[in-house]
Amino acid sequence: MKSYRIAAIPGDGIGKEVIAAGIEVLQALARREGGFALTFDHFDWGSDYYKTHGVMMPEDGRDRIRHHDAIFFGAVGAPDVPDHISLWGLRLAICQPFDQYANVRPTRVLPGITSPLRHVSGPELDWVIVRENSEGEYAGVGGRVHRGLPEEVATDVSMMTRTGVARIIRFAFDMARSRPRKLLTVVTKSNAQRHAMVMWDEIAAEVARDYPDVTWDKMLVDAMTMRMTMKPETIDTVVATNLHADILSDLAAALAGSLGIAPTANLNPERRFPSMFEPIHGSAFDITGKGIANPVGTFWTATMMLEHLGEKSGADRLMRAIERVTADPNLHTPDLGGKATTRAVTDAVIASILADNA
Ligand code: IPM
Ligand code: MG
Repeated sequence: MKSYRIAAIPGDGIGKEVIAAGIEVLQALARREGGFALTFDHFDWGSDYYKTHGVMMPEDGRDRIRHHDAIFFGAVGAPDVPDHISLWGLRLAICQPFDQYANVRPTRVLPGITSPLRHVSGPELDWVIVRENSEGEYAGVGGRVHRGLPEEVATDVSMMTRTGVARIIRFAFDMARSRPRKLLTVVTKSNAQRHAMVMWDEIAAEVARDYPDVTWDKMLVDAMTMRMTMKPETIDTVVATNLHADILSDLAAALAGSLGIAPTANLNPERRFPSMFEPIHGSAFDITGKGIANPVGTFWTATMMLEHLGEKSGADRLMRAIERVTADPNLHTPDLGGKATTRAVTDAVIASILADNA
């Protein structure tokens, strides 16, 4: 029997609640599937750890998870720790050194969920956003001098490398090719940003030559927000820079009904390092401890983790269970306008897994 070791990092806020739910569901799924086992090692890194130890994770933290098969991550961010400390101290401290350069964000309107778009009933909105996850606007290059003085200067330099751009564009073309419509939109802003984004466009055109079977187009990021809203059915796979895709993926999640549902994979496609799987909703301190966090984003994330591990049958079974549960409005958490608790949704997904005879 195959056995996978997963590093669980629940992090902050509702991260702890949804990761606990996710582990329960994954263990039930593994029992139901029978072909594989999962062992979870728990790491209490995050903002509470920071308040005790002055760092978000221990110095040898990465070494402790380097050989795991995957990382199952909750959320990071606390009201009393500056966001750039919590982010750079944990999430980016894992993503960047582990070269998880491909961030994959699928968006679909799941059964039973209502899109805020009047003209969308479901199938018109089925996207995958591929986010460059290692450089660009999040490169961390910049500085601040003359702090507090009138002549204070601060810069955040967006850095793009030919290697970094080429590999994410290639990844996105592969993703587009693997989907039925074979359709890719390359998001850009080369009208205003005349250096790096022009290089981005050029590289896209170069890489596209290797994918004659993929239809692709180019879209300015501002226009892309309109297209996502007005003509969602014209979009399939999307590739964008780190910041552009960060913004577009929140829009995508909202248009699909709730940020509580949206999943993410931070992939190191070459598998030199473990990849990291997380719901995109964040720590949500306003609802922490109330037992009403939507665990669906984490469950969907878990399907991406299973696919990455090669457990396709388990991933499909879990996705079927999720969709049967979202189809029932009585099992919607408050972010979806319902009254269900994290517990109720988790139990329902487990019951659905066990009842699935496929
Ligand atoms: C995301 C989040 C993060 C990001 C935050 C928490 C810094 O918004 O994963 O989309 O901007 O990358
Ligand atoms: Mg974001």
